[in-house]
Amino acid sequence: MTLLQNEGRQTLDAQLFIVRTHQGFILGIAGIKEQLPAMSDMHGFVPQAQCLGQAFADAQSVGDGSQSLAEPAETSVASSSIPTAQVFKEVDIRKIHEIGRHEHWLVHTSEVSIDFTTVLGEGGFGILHSGSFCGSPVAVKVAKDAVSHTSTEIDAKLASVVNELRIFRFLRHPNIVLFHGASLANGRVALVLENVKGQLLTHFVFQDMPMWWRESIILELLSVIWYMHSQDPPVVHGDIKSSNMMVEVRVAGVGNVLKPHLKVIDFGLSRVLGSQPQTLGGSRGWRAPELHQQGIMATTSADMFSAGCAMFFILTKQMPFLETNLNVGQWTWPPGRVSTRHGPVCKQCMCPVAEMRPSAVQAHALFNQCLMTSE
Ligand SMILES: Nc1ncnc2c1ncn2[C@@H]1O[C@H](COP(=O)(O)OP(=O)(O)OP(=O)(O)O)[C@@H](O)[C@H]1O
Ligand SMILES: [Mg+2]
Repeated sequence: MTLLQNEGRQTLDAQLFIVRTHQGFILGIAGIKEQLPAMSDMHGFVPQAQCLGQAFADAQSVGDGSQSLAEPAETSVASSSIPTAQVFKEVDIRKIHEIGRHEHWLVHTSEVSIDFTTVLGEGGFGILHSGSFCGSPVAVKVAKDAVSHTSTEIDAKLASVVNELRIFRFLRHPNIVLFHGASLANGRVALVLENVKGQLLTHFVFQDMPMWWRESIILELLSVIWYMHSQDPPVVHGDIKSSNMMVEVRVAGVGNVLKPHLKVIDFGLSRVLGSQPQTLGGSRGWRAPELHQQGIMATTSADMFSAGCAMFFILTKQMPFLETNLNVGQWTWPPGRVSTRHGPVCKQCMCPVAEMRPSAVQAHALFNQCLMTSE
């Protein structure tokens, strides 16, 4: 027999038994097994589809190409048609709270403190403060303060951070920032993350460094995308760009050799590919050309295009598409100096035809192979 709880999101498998005694019958219940929401149920993070579930889909959709091209470079694009923040606060946060308790990522207010005077960084959606988690230093991400924005913008920011929480609870990889949990006090969603002591990739690439450092960062990025795309169902990052990655330099192996270590830090526009088609956001200059057409659904190959742009940037210190119109049909191979060794795999990832791009596992193998060949 299956009992449903939490509006059908969780099930309890139980066995009923009847024992006959000299006084009559005893009805018993045994073998309860609780089943937590599966990965495939991530769209139902909050059971009321018309509230947060719908917000997850809408908050990340993108308008037509002309609208997104009007965005300043490096700004993530998300659209507007989402429910009010009120809906999140009154209905959904409470539900997320329940899931957080069951999944053991809910951080109690007494465990976390946020230093609102220290800003580690800021993006279009979130602001990172330093903080402490049970006395240890952490970074805490909250939706950007909404005072000067319209309510629709407030919703998009909150939706992005809540979506990130939805994604973070399933991701574990050495090159993905560590997610310690989330605090949901006073209707505010605060993601408690590892405090990455490094530089944004945007700045790091301009350092003098041996070529093998650049190659190692590319391999680590491809490893993250391989990991995300190989989940079941696959997770599309949706906003791969240099300001969503940080690099720490660490001592590695014997002989105190220094080595860069990549951390992907931002999953606010990520999607779980499920039965329902979803559109993708992204950032100007990094977004796959097909995403400039309306109604194109999220695919893993869109990430591969952005990964190609990141490879190009890491290798050449130039953005491939700063001035170029990315509409399909007007695309040209960007001018720049990618070596003959690295060029082919970089070019394959940035192929304008989505279906012809390699998968992440293929790109990882191709890039490894190209490292074996001489210039
Ligand atoms: N875990 C972390 N440790 C230290 N600094 C961080 C961390 N995460 C983010 N930052 C800093 O905060 C900035 C903004 O973070 P993030 O990219 O997550 O915000 P966002 O609003 O989602 O960004 P976007 O505009 O790309 O959507 C980063 O560029 C980085 O400088
Ligand atoms: Mg970001």
